[in-house]
Amino acid sequence: MAKLEYRTALVTGASSGMGRGLSLWFARKGVKVYAAARRHDKLEALADQARASGATIEPVELDVSNPEATVARIRELDEACGGLDLIIANAGVGQQMNARRMEWEHVKRLIDVNVAGAAATLCAVLPRMVERNRGHLVGVASLAAWRGLARNAAYSGSKAFLSTFMESLRVDLRGTAVRVTCIYPGFVKSEMTAPNKHPMPFLLETEEAARMMGKAIARGEAEYAFPWQTAGRMRMVKARPNALFDSTMRKLR
Ligand SMILES: NC(=O)c1ccc[n+]([C@@H]2O[C@H](COP(=O)([O-])OP(=O)(O)OC[C@H]3O[C@@H](n4cnc5c(N)ncnc54)[C@H](OP(=O)(O)O)[C@@H]3O)[C@@H](O)[C@H]2O)c1
Repeated sequence: MAKLEYRTALVTGASSGMGRGLSLWFARKGVKVYAAARRHDKLEALADQARASGATIEPVELDVSNPEATVARIRELDEACGGLDLIIANAGVGQQMNARRMEWEHVKRLIDVNVAGAAATLCAVLPRMVERNRGHLVGVASLAAWRGLARNAAYSGSKAFLSTFMESLRVDLRGTAVRVTCIYPGFVKSEMTAPNKHPMPFLLETEEAARMMGKAIARGEAEYAFPWQTAGRMRMVKARPNALFDSTMRKLR
């Protein structure tokens, strides 16, 4: 692949899983990566690992569930580095819960991180990117955004928000040089999926998923759903009439 055009990038949720993998993927291609998350020790270890291979990762302690602090911190970074070229809103939390036992605290936690946190990350320097006529915004949604999956009202709902948000950004930014990419992963090995007891078809290794996502971002894809097997199945699920969809979900439940 040709040299990437990004000088700097910010990746949220970089202390584990796909965010960690994406940070390493871009840093090893010569991009200076600001890797953000709450667990500073994990970010330090990631920076050390990058340094050992001649790449640059700067740890950034950040809790995206505080949107005001997130916006302020990203604006600071943007000024300090002379303009962020790539922002990947990847930080996310997931937890299944049957609506019959729904708790507001659970729903709020997912909205704070997956909705407010992602939107704050993506909005922080958007007008500056437009002014510079340069930049790339990436949101990591999920194939779970395409339908309201059983036991996933908060998760599917939060990712549907991000998916629609990214689509509107893309429409509004057409005609500028600021690009928009929305990513829809299927099952990927990570801290998030480790506790899952149910089958996870076509489960991908974290590094493989990060490599696929990195390449799709570098190609400037508007949307990237993967792996193709799960994305294909979910496209069919998306088109199912409600009665058929509900009965499939009832069986899963
Ligand atoms: N794994 C899958 O199968 C899958 C499928 C579809 C979509 N996704 C999405 O992919 C993204 C990455 O998930 P993953 O699977 O790689 O999970 P993961 O290993 O659990 O990583 C989640 C990351 O988000 C960070 N995070 C959580 N809460 C945060 C907060 N309040 N502030 C800042 N960072 C926070 C975590 O860091 P700290 O705890 O250190 O803050 C961690 O680095 C998520 O948006 C997820 O919804 C995952």
